[in-house]
Amino acid sequence: MYKKILDKLQVLTISFEKWLNKVFSQQYNPFYYHGAVPNLFMWTLFITGLLLFAYFQPTLDSAYISVNYISNKIPFGSVVRGMHRYSADAMMIAVLIHAIRVYFTDRYRKYRWIAWYSGVALILCMLVIGITGYVLVWDERSYMIVLMMTDALKQIPVIGFPLAELFVNGKVITHYTMAMSFFLHVGISFFLFYLLWLHYLRISRPVTDVPLGLGLLLTATIVIPSALIPVVSGKPAVLTQTPQEFPLDWFYLWIFPLFSGMPALIVWTALFIGVAVLLAVPYLITDEPKSPAIVSLSNCVGCTLCAKDCPYEAIYMVPRTDHPKFKQLAIVIDSRCAECGLCVGACAFKAIDLPQEHSKEIIAKIGDVLKEPAGVGT
Ligand code: HEM
Ligand code: SF4
Ligand code: SF4
Repeated sequence: MYKKILDKLQVLTISFEKWLNKVFSQQYNPFYYHGAVPNLFMWTLFITGLLLFAYFQPTLDSAYISVNYISNKIPFGSVVRGMHRYSADAMMIAVLIHAIRVYFTDRYRKYRWIAWYSGVALILCMLVIGITGYVLVWDERSYMIVLMMTDALKQIPVIGFPLAELFVNGKVITHYTMAMSFFLHVGISFFLFYLLWLHYLRISRPVTDVPLGLGLLLTATIVIPSALIPVVSGKPAVLTQTPQEFPLDWFYLWIFPLFSGMPALIVWTALFIGVAVLLAVPYLITDEPKSPAIVSLSNCVGCTLCAKDCPYEAIYMVPRTDHPKFKQLAIVIDSRCAECGLCVGACAFKAIDLPQEHSKEIIAKIGDVLKEPAGVGT
């Protein structure tokens, strides 16, 4: 039943993308660059973040003033600040579309589990980066975020208090609190690169860049609102006055209305279960037996061509002593094999095969893929 629904969703997604070709043309269809679009926004965030970093002062006394200085006194400072904020939201939207797209098109299971798991970690890190980013402005919203987050963290059994103290960087809010938020905001941003390295590890030739025309169009969707609707700070935070409400960013701060609506422990438990479900998703369909490539001991001459051609690094060579002439043997790492069949095409000695498919069918399939226009099927 679950598999049938997914199959239907896959057909619908592909039809929708084909229809979008009429609007954007095949070359610029953003859905064919579903992973590259979040990447573009991430780089926009990094570059604008570096520019803001040049003037930002991470202390309770000067953070608010320095952010306003950037907005009001630095040429184009307001646009840069707006681009930073709007591309953060755009990145979250793009990441969610990307995750739904890989899920609907069944490209998240088997050897792709590592891309899925690192994707879940990327979303969680983005949330922490977003929340700490809002603290840096040090307006009333920032103050509320620190108060509510500290209270909510304390509700977690055993590790709650140490976590809350880590977040506040002490027992009460001080300059160190701002330094910690700054550290988390910037530090975790750099950690994204490591996660992305993991993300691409098992993807052969990931599409990470959008074509120039699409890139300009997407950048314009960030620059124009930044110029027309500048991002402004709220009232400055005053430690003796607790603000009652604050404007929400639904992409990063959605957890705070939940904290005020129900006990924090329930929110954390729901979040924990949500993440556990996401991590279980690649293993929900178990009905298809895996049939990785198999090497024939008697035919393999140890030429290494298959190992060089395998895009998933699923083949390695080992020395062999059982044959007078051939010194190496190809070994397939089953868990990495994507059953793509490239090694079957690479081997001139009929020494490697996919048990479920005849080598002639595989070679015909490779021919079909080569005929497909770029972008389709990515
Ligand atoms: C910072 C956020 C992210 C960026 C920049 C990013 C980028 C990318 C890129 C460039 C690709 C290669 C796409 C291709 O070649 O067609 C990719 C693949 C993939 N991503 Fe992400 N991604 C992000 C977040 C996520 C999230 C949140 C998930 C899911 C939870 C996810 C799941 C996957 C999967 C399963 C693949 C493999 C798809 C395939 O092989 O066709 N990604 N990602
Ligand atoms: S290409 Fe064929 S013969 Fe060469 S190492 Fe691989 S399996 Fe062996
Ligand atoms: S079928 Fe061959 S080339 Fe493809 S992933 Fe498996 S071992 Fe590598």
